[in-house]
This record gives sequence, structure tokens and C-alpha cells, in this order.
Amino acid sequence: MVTGAPAGESAIGTVDYDDESFSLSSNQCVISAPQESMLERGVFVKIGNTDQPYFIGQIIEGPFYTSRYSETHGRYVAELISYIDRDSVRAVLSRPAPGTEVRTVESGQVQSLLGVSGSMYMGYVTTDRKVSVMMDSATLTRHVGVFGTTGSGKSNTIQVFMEEASKKDFAVLVFDVEGEYIFMDRPTDRLIERLETFGLKPAGARDFRVYVPYPSFTHRVGAERFAVKFCNVDIDVFSEVAGLSRLEQLYFQDLIEKVAAVTPETKPVTLKAIIDRLAQRLKGQAEYATMPPFIVEVNTTLYSKLRLISGLNIVDADAEGISMDEIFKEGRISVLDLSDASDYVRNIVIADLLSKVFKYKVENPESPKLLIVIEEAHTFISREKRDRMMATMMLIIETARRGRKRGLSLGIVTQQPAHLPSEILELCNTRIIHRISSTANIEVLKESTGNVPEGLWSTVPSLGRGEAIIATPKYSRALPVTMRPTMSMRVVME
Ligand SMILES: Nc1ncnc2c1ncn2[C@@H]1O[C@H](COP(=O)(O)OP(=O)(O)OP(=O)(O)O)[C@@H](O)[C@H]1O
Ligand SMILES: [Mg+2]
Repeated sequence: MVTGAPAGESAIGTVDYDDESFSLSSNQCVISAPQESMLERGVFVKIGNTDQPYFIGQIIEGPFYTSRYSETHGRYVAELISYIDRDSVRAVLSRPAPGTEVRTVESGQVQSLLGVSGSMYMGYVTTDRKVSVMMDSATLTRHVGVFGTTGSGKSNTIQVFMEEASKKDFAVLVFDVEGEYIFMDRPTDRLIERLETFGLKPAGARDFRVYVPYPSFTHRVGAERFAVKFCNVDIDVFSEVAGLSRLEQLYFQDLIEKVAAVTPETKPVTLKAIIDRLAQRLKGQAEYATMPPFIVEVNTTLYSKLRLISGLNIVDADAEGISMDEIFKEGRISVLDLSDASDYVRNIVIADLLSKVFKYKVENPESPKLLIVIEEAHTFISREKRDRMMATMMLIIETARRGRKRGLSLGIVTQQPAHLPSEILELCNTRIIHRISSTANIEVLKESTGNVPEGLWSTVPSLGRGEAIIATPKYSRALPVTMRPTMSMRVVME
């Protein structure tokens, strides 16, 4: 229930006359407040002379010093969010008259009005630290994008998501391109005092695994090594990663069929068998030429491209694939350390796992929900690589689109939202926007994020570390949030 203004609470300002210089819309009004009232953009206020009815407004612009009182008073633009009458929330169909009193709103009321309730603890509203920002785990049935320039706090934020999701019995899978999350089972050794101001103590993840591609190095002792089985790989994605031309891909598919036809059903088709068969074909050609030269050329380049992938030692290497039964465990966080992996290995691994995860979820609908974190997303799924990486991208888009209803959610982290394909960006409807200075990156987010007032966008280039704007359909409006630090450890690269 929404309660009225406590009796006796004094006004901090009043509604002022409209002023053409603000080009107000009909759900905005001007507020004049003495400088000591310390109003800031983002703050919520109650506008009304009596207990009820009253308006709830949010300061979105100002202070401006345009009136004759400007030495003592600042003027602000407030957006009228709701109208409270007899304890119920109504649409805003009118505006308060000049002289109407303005008061602060208590934090509990702000929380319920904004919809910032739930059991995932993210931080507090920057303009009112009494208001804790919570998220409902249902937010993770949609996808999350975390954006911001280097050092703005993206990794901390996504790690907070991982901690909270795993507490809500999600399974978490992280493609860790920097090797930052490989010690999340340990309590953090940094920002401890700050963490305490949020009422939290250092604590490591309770159920935790680290995996590393068979040929790569990791700092995590005891990490499980894994390989990718050729027989399970999506051939379109594989061809793309290998950089095969259309013609090479046709010959490749033909070879796979021929090798499959002579492989016993109990045995998998291996990349080695494909390469051997191709080698034989080329050798035969050298001895007794039957193919036209341009086909020989196609087969020769195909051979060298397949040899290159085979030389990476990740496909059919002497290690098991990652078991999906191990990934889909309630509360478990699984980290794939890809910090030492080449682009090829990284892309093969990500594509392979995404398709396995999706397949598993379809076959096991009762398995736990899964949050899949993709860090530095722009480095391997970018607009520039869009045409060359179509199959990989379609796989991600399909996983995102069709996985959503099945309990698969993506956490996409990038410092370059402008380089992300728009399909991927649009799928992230919960957005955490940290400091960004590049106009191109801000613009692309602006175009596709609704409900963020201009006054909040203008704060984006000056946000401090760990500060962000959160826009999510779950909240009635976008909010400036100070994120909490993580409880678990992260290897910080500075
Ligand atoms: N919510 C927060 N509160 C306090 N300090 C924070 C917060 N978030 C991040 N920091 C600090 O800011 C620094 C950068 O944070 P982080 O590594 O998360 O940024 P990033 O955006 O992921 O950077 P990069 O682009 O380099 O990956 C770290 O030292 C971290 O401890
Ligand atoms: Mg980071």
C-alpha cells in the first residue's frame, strides 16, 4: 500500500511557473528549491499540498539558475510519474499548479513505485542510498547487456549477477576471455570495507568448476581440460571458423558424407579421417590427374585450412567434452578459461557449447535455468565480422531467442555496443549502462533503450566506477544505480 506524506514533514521546494526555455511536455513541471535542499537528478519527490492526492515526480533536469531568485534557488524539471489518490496509483492526467509544495519520498515507497523489488541484491539508487536496488530473478528470463568503457565496472557488475543468480539456483556458465573469474570460489580480498557498507561480507562461490581447452594454459591448478568432438560440431559454424569459401564448404560436406558412409555406426567421424581422405584424393591426383585444376586448387586450400584447425589440437584431442549434466547443476558456476585460447579455439568452443547447451535444455526441460555470460562480446561477434560469422551469430541469436522461454539467458558484456550486431543488442532488454564517453556507443544504446530521460543519458560520460544506469522492463523507469562490489574474488587486471 502507498502511504501519504507523514504529517509535519516540511516542504523542500515548490512548483514554479512554466518557463518556455524548458520546452516542457505535459507530464513535466518546474520546481524551484533552495540550494540547501540538495536536489539531484534522479531524486523522487512528492508534489502536493495535502496528504492525498499528490503527484510523484522524478527530477530529470537542473538545477538551472534562471529566475530572479537564482542566487538562493535552483530550478529543476520534474517528470510526473504517477498520481496517488486515496492510496491508489493513477495515470497522470493533470499537472500541479505553481506554489504546490514539494517533499521527499520515503525509500520504501520509492522501491515499490519503481518496482525495484526482488531478491537479487544489486546496489542502491545513486541519488538516494536508502533505496536498495533489487532485481527479480525473472529478469533473467530475458537477456542482460552490460555496457561501459574500460574500467567502468562491467566485470564487477556481471559478477554480481552471477553471484545472485547462483543463489537463486540458476546454473551459471561463463566464457572467461581474460581469466578473471577463475578464483570465484575464494572470498574477495578487495573493497572489503565498501562491501560492508552494503551489509555484505566476502564469500566465495559455493559450487564452482573451472574448465580449460585442452591445448591452453590456465593459472587455475586442477582445472578440467576439455576438447571438442568433431562429430558434435555444427558444420556451418565449423566452416565459418575455418574460413572456408562456399565451394570449399561443399567439398568439405561431401567428404564428411563419404567418410561417414565407411565409418562403423558405433564410431564417430573424426576430423583426422576427413583430412586423411582428402590427402588421399590429392595424392591420387598427383599420380594420375583426373580433376580440373580449379577443383584441385579448392581441395588444396581446403586441405590446408583443415590442417590449420587440426593443428590447434582442440578438435578430437585426447580429452573429454564438457558434460552438460555438470553444467546444469543448481547454483553451480562453471568458468571456461579462454584467456590463452586463440580466436579459432575460442569460437569453436563457444559455438560448440552454445549448441550443446541448447540441445540439452530442449531435451531436459526440467533442468535448472542457466545464465550464460559472454565477456568482451564485441571481439568475436562484431558488426565487422557479421558476414563472415553469420552461422555463429545465428547460433547465438537462436540460443537467445528460443532459449529465453526455456530458461536460458545471456549476459552480454561489451565496451563497444556500437560494434555489436543490432540483433544481439536488441535481445538484451535489461541494460546496465556504465560510464561511456564515445558518442557512437551512447547513440546506439539510446536508439534502442526506451524510457531513459535525456537528463539521465547526459550523466553517462561522467558516471563513476561502479555507477550505472539500469533500464529494464521490470522497473517503471530507468534508474541511476551504484552497484555493490562482489563478495567473491576476481583477478583484476590493471
Ligand atoms: N561497484 C563497484 N564499487 C567499487 N569499485 C568498483 C565497482 N565496480 C568496479 N569497481 C572497481 O573498478 C575497477 C574496474 O572495474 P571492472 O574491472 O569491473 O571494470 P571493467 O569495465 O570490467 O573494465 P575492463 O574493460 O578493463 O574489463 C576495479 O578495480 C574494481 O574493483
Ligand atoms: Mg572487465
